[in-house]
Order: sequence, then C-alpha cells, then structure tokens
Amino acid sequence: MRTITVELGERSYPIIIKGGLLSEIGERMKDLGFRGKAAVVTNTLVGGLYGEELLKSLKEAGFSPFVITLPDGEEYKTIEVATTVYDGLIDNRMERSSPIIALGGGVIGDMAGFVAATYLRGVPYIQAPTTLLAQVDSSVGGKTAVNHPKGKNLIGAFYQPRAVFIDPQVLKSLDIREVRAGLAEVIKYGVIWDEEFFAFLEKNSSALLDIGAELTKAIERSCEIKAEVVGADETEQGVRSFLNLGHTFGHAIEALSGYGTFKHGEAVATGMALAARLSVDLGLCEDSVARSIKGLITSVGLPTEPPEFSAEQWIESMRLDKKVTAGAIWFVLIKRLGTVNLQEVGERVLKEFFARL
Ligand code: NAD
Ligand code: GLY
Repeated sequence: MRTITVELGERSYPIIIKGGLLSEIGERMKDLGFRGKAAVVTNTLVGGLYGEELLKSLKEAGFSPFVITLPDGEEYKTIEVATTVYDGLIDNRMERSSPIIALGGGVIGDMAGFVAATYLRGVPYIQAPTTLLAQVDSSVGGKTAVNHPKGKNLIGAFYQPRAVFIDPQVLKSLDIREVRAGLAEVIKYGVIWDEEFFAFLEKNSSALLDIGAELTKAIERSCEIKAEVVGADETEQGVRSFLNLGHTFGHAIEALSGYGTFKHGEAVATGMALAARLSVDLGLCEDSVARSIKGLITSVGLPTEPPEFSAEQWIESMRLDKKVTAGAIWFVLIKRLGTVNLQEVGERVLKEFFARL
C-alpha cells in the first residue's frame, strides 16, 4: 500500500493506492471521521461492475449509503445531469457533513466533485477513480466541472476531495484503448518532471499494459508528481500549467476531428509528440529528446501523427482554447526530459510549423 499526501494546509488529503482497496473504502472513510449517510455517484457501467462491492464495504462499516446512477458518457457531463444528482441528494436528505463518493472515471469524478462543491455550498467528497486517466490525473487536484454546449469544462470550481482511494485492480475490466489513453498522461509526468521515471516507462513499456506491478508503480509515481505540482500551485498560476503539455495541440485535434474520434489521451499523446517537434524547431531541445518521446508513445500503442488540417484550422481552433490569454497562444515546450517551460509562440512561426507537418 502507498499513501501520498497532497499538501494543502488544513485541506491536505491522502491518496491511497492498494490492490483490493475498493472493499476497504467503508473502513477507511470511518477512519477519516465520516459517519451516517453517504451518496455514491456512479454510472450504469461502473455501478454494475463495482457498485455492490463498494456498498457492501460502506454498510459493513456502519454507513447508510445510497446510489445515484448516471448515464455513461462525456455527453452526459452537463449541468442538466448534475441537477439530477442534486435531486437525489435532496430526496435522500443529505446533510452538509455527509460525503459523496465518486465511483467512476473522469466524467463521474468531475461531475460528482462539481456537485459536492456546490450542494449546500460544499459537502465533502471522496474520489474512487476507476479509469487509468482518473487514477493518475483527474481524481487528484480538485478540478471539478461540467461541460457547456460551447466548450468542455467551462463551468466548474477548484474543490479538493477529502481522500482519493485508488484500486489498480479495477483497471482489469477497462477497455485496452482506455488504458492506453491513460498512459498518455503517465508519459506526460515523465516528460515534464522526472527523467528517471521516463526511463522506467521506456524500460517497461510493454509490461505496463499487463496491468500488474509495473503499472501500479507508474500510478504511484504519477500521483506523487501530481500531488507535488498541485501542492505547489493549486489554481494553475505557475507549474500546474506544465500538466497541459500536449493539450493545446490535443484539444485542437479533438475539436477538428470531431469529439469522440480521438480519445483525449490519444489526442494528448499526439500533442506531446508535436510539442516535442515544435521544441526542436525552436531550438529549445535536442532532436534525440523528441525521438525518445515519440518512441515511448508509439511503444504503448498511442498515435503520434495528427490528421491533416490546414495551418489556418489549427490556429483558429487553438485560439478558442482555454490556454489562450490576450490573443497569444501558449505552449508547454520541452527543454530536456524532465524539464519544460511555458512559452508564447507567434502565429507566423506556428503557420510555418503546421505547413511543414
Ligand atoms: P470516462 O469517465 O468517460 O471513462 C471512460 C469509459 O470507461 C466510460 O465508458 C466508463 O464508464 C468506463 N469505465 C470506467 N471505469 C471502468 C472500469 N474500471 N472498467 C470498465 N469500464 C470502466 O473517461 P475518463 O477518460 O476517465 O475521463 C475523461 C474525463 O475526465 C473528461 O471529461 C475530462 O474533461 C476529465 N478530466 C478531468 C481532469 C481533472 O483534472 N479534473 C483531468 C483530465 C481529464
Ligand atoms: N489535468 C490537469 C490539471 O489537473 O491541472
């Protein structure tokens, strides 16, 4: 078992990583001081797979749990669906001290967190992430949100969970394409923060897909890095923006190819390969670094080449992204493995870059 703390003063919280942890969540919540009612927010798929086990654990620890089951999919990450969660909480007379438990991937975690941030002006919530992406990224750090028809995650709040309970065994039921998509974020941590971790991933690239000890180690190191980054910069004024490596390109790829064509992690993987190429073009890093990044991404079965879009399409799409301030397009660019910088890139340079792709 590993415990990692996100250090945020009196809002600090543990991330616990352990195979089989799902069946211990009730006892561990009792240890955190929770009693009485608990709302489990999940979706039809994950609830069917793991809802019973979590409910059993909660009941055995003396909780009176109830379940709010949402439809499965990013298209349901909306304020309308969040309203149905409020309805469930009100119908079950959830009080301010009662916790919400998010059992699911990033969609459920972001939505349940958003509801927790706003119901009764804030109730405690626990993350029980069940996708690799959620275990290494979205469950840690308190970014909560729902989508708006005009854009993803436009309505939300920074609101930290009280604990994150990660059971890597639940990843065994996850579609392999989802596992690969989550690995994009794992690779990201190596590139932005830790060259040694990048080397570990290179050495174990095929073993990671077996969902065994190597993947658990990768989850642990990813959570350590995310905890350190969030502890240093909770609201993304500085280093937290490094977590957006590949995302400016990635969001454009997702939008231009039609949402759903590329998984987020696949678009981010391609985006990281492009960020590395741009970094080389700008003379910021050695070509060997870009080759290593491309090599690792490819070896876990993720894409590195974007579909064909015109330079105008790329730039127009990037202008709509959240990472644009005062008209400038900002990128996380790579200096060497483990070291990145946030840098503005001019449109002329970008146009030439995209024309060469
Ligand atoms: P997701 O939540 O849609 O899960 C992907 C699919 O896997 C779903 O069909 C889900 O039901 C299924 N699933 C989940 N766990 C499973 C399991 N153990 N076995 C079988 N199937 C399982 O997608 P995601 O990739 O986890 O999350 C994407 C969301 O996360 C996006 O909305 C994105 O905006 C958000 N996100 C948030 C942050 C943050 O910091 N808050 C960071 C990155 C992404
Ligand atoms: N997923 C990016 C962040 O948490 O800041």
